[in-house]
Amino acid sequence: MSVLVINEIKKLREIIKENRKEPKTIALVPTMGCLHEGHKSLIAKASSIADLTIVSVFVNPIQFCPGEDYDRYPRTLEADKDAAQSAGADIIFAPSVSEMYPNLQKFSDLTMVVPPYELTDIMCGKSRVGHFDGVETVVTKLFNIVQPDIACFGMKDIQQLFLIKKMVRDLNIPVEIIPCPLVREKNGLALSSRNKYLSDEDKVKALSISRSVFAIRDAYKAGIKETKKLFDTGLANLDKGVELEYLEFVDENTFKPVESVNQDTICAMAARVGNVRLIDNIILEV
Ligand code: PAJ
Repeated sequence: MSVLVINEIKKLREIIKENRKEPKTIALVPTMGCLHEGHKSLIAKASSIADLTIVSVFVNPIQFCPGEDYDRYPRTLEADKDAAQSAGADIIFAPSVSEMYPNLQKFSDLTMVVPPYELTDIMCGKSRVGHFDGVETVVTKLFNIVQPDIACFGMKDIQQLFLIKKMVRDLNIPVEIIPCPLVREKNGLALSSRNKYLSDEDKVKALSISRSVFAIRDAYKAGIKETKKLFDTGLANLDKGVELEYLEFVDENTFKPVESVNQDTICAMAARVGNVRLIDNIILEV
């Protein structure tokens, strides 16, 4: 059966209600589309657990900061249908902006879900002020619309995953969050919809980001524990054409910075190649 594309909340709710008549497990995979193998791994995981797998495709305007790539973010719904279907999706939920935010002109009127400042004033949240408020708000709306039993999120966006897990705990949202491993190209580059912006020349530069996190992991495995030294190892591996935004070592349970790393430490990085912002991370387990 081919994947069903639904644009309206009311229609989606009707279909879900029908499905709920039998005891069925429903999975949600929230995305912004332009689906690649990373997204497909989440969809495949979801459909291996659930009876009904819903993939949302929505470029969420309220998680983009002024001057970011909201307008040019790739919108590829036709290709996304094939990708989602081949990975095991049953339904694509692709609402319009006005369907999700009927009153967006009056942004200040929107009820928002806001994560704690101390967890957003670090890493991606530091340069993308308000980004995680937009993420948590749209994910909460999607959880309320679909009411899934499980939802899959990628470890590529490690701070996002941490904040979503905390939000679900803090707000008692009845959904199980399934973390899914970061998927890379064979050459190491973390898959991202934003890789589409990279020229061939920029891709070579971008490769130094994954090279850098792998070099840090190797140095850690060779016995180096001090973050200062590991930071320098990472920096030494970054191509000159890559502008580092942050390279942080945080505890995976608290997201607090650590001075000496252990098997619970996440090494996370954001860097720019030209005007393309890319992220990567690695958990320093042995
Ligand atoms: P998007 O960037 O489209 O990512 C959707 C999901 O795919 C996220 O959970 C992300 O972590 C995961 N993902 C992306 N690239 C991946 C990779 N290389 N390996 C594994 N997982 C990967 O993240 C968002 O959209 C939005 O913020 C969203 C949660 C949908 C809210 O708008």
